[in-house]
Parts: sequence; structure tokens; C-alpha cells
Amino acid sequence: MTDSTQSSASKRLLILVSGGGSNLQSLIDGCENGDINATVSAVISNNPDAGGLERAARASIPNVAIDHRAFDTRESFDIALSELIDSFSPDLVILAGFMRILTPEFVDHFLGRMMNIHPSLLPAYPGLHTHRRAIEAGDKKAGATVHFVTPELDGGPSIVQAQVAIESTDDERSLASKVLAFEHKIYPEAVKWFCDDRLIMDNNGVKLDNQPISEHGIIYNSIEPSS
Ligand code: GAR
Repeated sequence: MTDSTQSSASKRLLILVSGGGSNLQSLIDGCENGDINATVSAVISNNPDAGGLERAARASIPNVAIDHRAFDTRESFDIALSELIDSFSPDLVILAGFMRILTPEFVDHFLGRMMNIHPSLLPAYPGLHTHRRAIEAGDKKAGATVHFVTPELDGGPSIVQAQVAIESTDDERSLASKVLAFEHKIYPEAVKWFCDDRLIMDNNGVKLDNQPISEHGIIYNSIEPSS
């Protein structure tokens, strides 16, 4: 694959978090070390106590809390959030542990320029408690999926998927920790592809370097996580 980093202008990333923000950190690190041709324009959280806001502050990135509990309806929150995001003019909106169901209007506004990471091998286990459900089902593998966001919950087309073996000794916690280490690999990689103008979503699906990506995305099942 060719490296087109030199030819594309630096992109603006807007990252949404609800919790600790370890995926956010992997993206901040990727921008800071030059792997990702982008800057993080802002970090926004629906949770004023999110650790991700502190991570952003430590990296001198503008960070804003917009508490969903102050809004009467999902629609009114999503409108306010959408306007706040637009005020930073991002090229790509990144959901990094953003634990909100989004309205179709919100998703449509950012269609083709919003990504999510989900801790399962989608289409298996959309929603919550993914690792517990995989273990209870007796699955032999688990993982995480980076995908473009469409109105269907955790249903947008896959970009890249990391597969992790479930050992007989694994519990929900150990499995989550193993998968998270792979999340920190595949999310920066997918964002890097987008920022290098190599990755697009259109009506025909997702393409990397003009080649259609298969249903499950590019499979990473043998990479060694570094953290
Ligand atoms: C990650 O495991 C991410 O895949 C998951 O939340 C965690 C956030 O961790 N996202 C979802 O479940 C979205 N449906 P982090 O705050 O340390 O990045």
C-alpha cells in the first residue's frame, strides 16, 4: 500500500468520550508522534466527570462537557451536541467510548465522517456487556471492530476488526483488558487511513485505496499489542 501522507492536508479530529478515554489517549499519541496526519481539535463528553476530559486537558486540547441530563429529550441534546461539534469544523468525528444512542438526524449529519469502536466482532453483540455475552455463549474468540457510524446501533460498515482468542481462564475483566490493548492498535490505524485520504465510505460501502473492504473489515488477528 502506498503512503499518501505527504499529499494530504492535516485533518481536524473531534473526539467524543464518556469514560476513561484510553482509546482517546492512543489517538492523541498517534497525532503527537506523527503517525496520524491530524490534530485533535477538541474532546467533548456527555459526562462532566469523564477521565477523557482530563487526558485532553493534559495534552492542552480544548475539552468541553455537555451534560445530557440537562436536556429534556434525546433530540434536543443531539442538536446541541451537533452544533457544538460543528463549531470546531472537524473533518472526522470519532466516538471513543461514547456511550450514547444517537438520533438518526445526528448520524445523518456526520455520515461518512464519523467512526466508532465497539468491543465485539460485529455484527455479533451490538449493545452492552459484549465480553460477558461472548464468554457465556462459549465463543472461542472475541475482539473489537472499528466501523463507520450509520443510524443502526453498532451496525455501520466495518473498517477493521481485531480478533482475540478467548481462553478457558478468561473472565469478563481479563477479556476486556486483552481486547482493549488491540483497540489501541486498530483505532489509530483506521483514523490514519482516513486522514491520509485512503479510506472512504460511500453508497457502495467502505473502500481502502479504492478497494472494497469485506463485510467484517480488515482482519487483524496476529498483531502484537504494545500496551
Ligand atoms: C472501549 O472498550 C470501547 O470499545 C467501548 O468502551 C470502551 C471505552 O474505553 N465502546 C463501546 O462499548 C461503544 N458501544 P476507553 O474510555 O478506555 O477508551
